[in-house]
Amino acid sequence: MMYTQKLMDHFMNPRNVGIIENPDGYAKVGSPSCGDMMEIFLMIKENVITDAKFRTFGCASAIASSSVTTEMVIGKTIKEALELTNKSIAENLDGLPASKLHCSVLAEEVINEAIEDYRFRK
Ligand code: FES
Repeated sequence: MMYTQKLMDHFMNPRNVGIIENPDGYAKVGSPSCGDMMEIFLMIKENVITDAKFRTFGCASAIASSSVTTEMVIGKTIKEALELTNKSIAENLDGLPASKLHCSVLAEEVINEAIEDYRFRK
């Protein structure tokens, strides 16, 4: 399997790993097919995501997808963050192998659900 350099970089040096106490939005999703799991914690002020942290138990692509997703959403409005797709996540890793596309789908799901959680809490 071929991983891009960018994917390897995010896997070896993941950005924004960890948790946020009392986040404004939180979600945890799992993939039934492979058993991998992702958690995301968001801080949101006036509809803008000011911070994001993640914890992922899973494959290299899942870790890289969550890492790049936190980078992509910090500073974005929740509307912009909801427009993010698994395709744009994969593009920001310079591509994912076909068998690993579901890892980026998981990252798209977790961000959508965390924003839903934020809206629900308000
Ligand atoms: Fe399932 Fe990567 S193999 S999330």
